[in-house]
Amino acid sequence: MPIVLKWGAGLTAGMNALADLRLQIEWGADEALQEEAVDRLAAPLPALPPRMAARPVVAERAPARPVAAVLEPAARPSLTPAARPSLTPAAPAQRAHEIAAGCHSLGELRAALAAFDGCPLSATATNLVFGDGNPSAGLMLVGEGPGAEEDRAGVPFVGASGQFLDRMLASVGLDREQYYITNLIPWRPPGNRNPTDQEVVVCLPFLLRHIALVRPKILVLLGNLSVQAVTGSKTGITRVRGKWQEVTVPWVERPIRALPMLHPAYLLRNHGAKREAWADMIALRRALDGA
Ligand code: URA
Repeated sequence: MPIVLKWGAGLTAGMNALADLRLQIEWGADEALQEEAVDRLAAPLPALPPRMAARPVVAERAPARPVAAVLEPAARPSLTPAARPSLTPAAPAQRAHEIAAGCHSLGELRAALAAFDGCPLSATATNLVFGDGNPSAGLMLVGEGPGAEEDRAGVPFVGASGQFLDRMLASVGLDREQYYITNLIPWRPPGNRNPTDQEVVVCLPFLLRHIALVRPKILVLLGNLSVQAVTGSKTGITRVRGKWQEVTVPWVERPIRALPMLHPAYLLRNHGAKREAWADMIALRRALDGA
């Protein structure tokens, strides 16, 4: 029997609800993290304690940590009005560079990133995704940015593409004790969208400092975003993959050998490209063996 849909209040309400859901997914709210849905519109607003309600809004903000406190003495800016940082779009990237330069261990870098408020992604992510594996191994891999699983766990490459990457590396005898892994972007972009240019520019100084502190002998750059950000080249990944490069990283005296590779998420969607990825894995194994 054919089903006849009548255009009425019920159908309109259903379509509106569907449109609302689509909008939420576009905004990045694509996961339910609680068993029960919370109707925040129905819940009464909690009353503020009188002391908080009376205080001006500006007093609620934590006092900003002075940049000078985390910079090397030579890099400390003079705080004369003329030298004060301007509120241009470049300011967060400059601040990121100064803060990163002041970090002298991975622990300091992680803490500085956790306290950094210059990238809007930190406000929407569940966890900072810093790094995993063995920083003394001599091999460092750099991906693009965390997905949903990484965001939940606070660990890079634990989702489907991470598990696939683990299997590829295991096939040439490498596990996470034999490499260190991180991402260009340490916070998940909502809905897994690509990071904006501004987000990349702000996160890059932290990645470069991360590389400088790990000082790997070999760097593997996974995917277009990380290759282009670290090498500064605009050539697409399919043309540069498998071609060894020497990359210059601030704070590191000698160039580092870097191998651009296809991103494992791309390989999961493009099975035909696995043959090239396999050739790159073998080239990586040979380089590690000093061949
Ligand atoms: N893709 C990435 O580039 N990084 C992760 O951590 C996970 C997926």
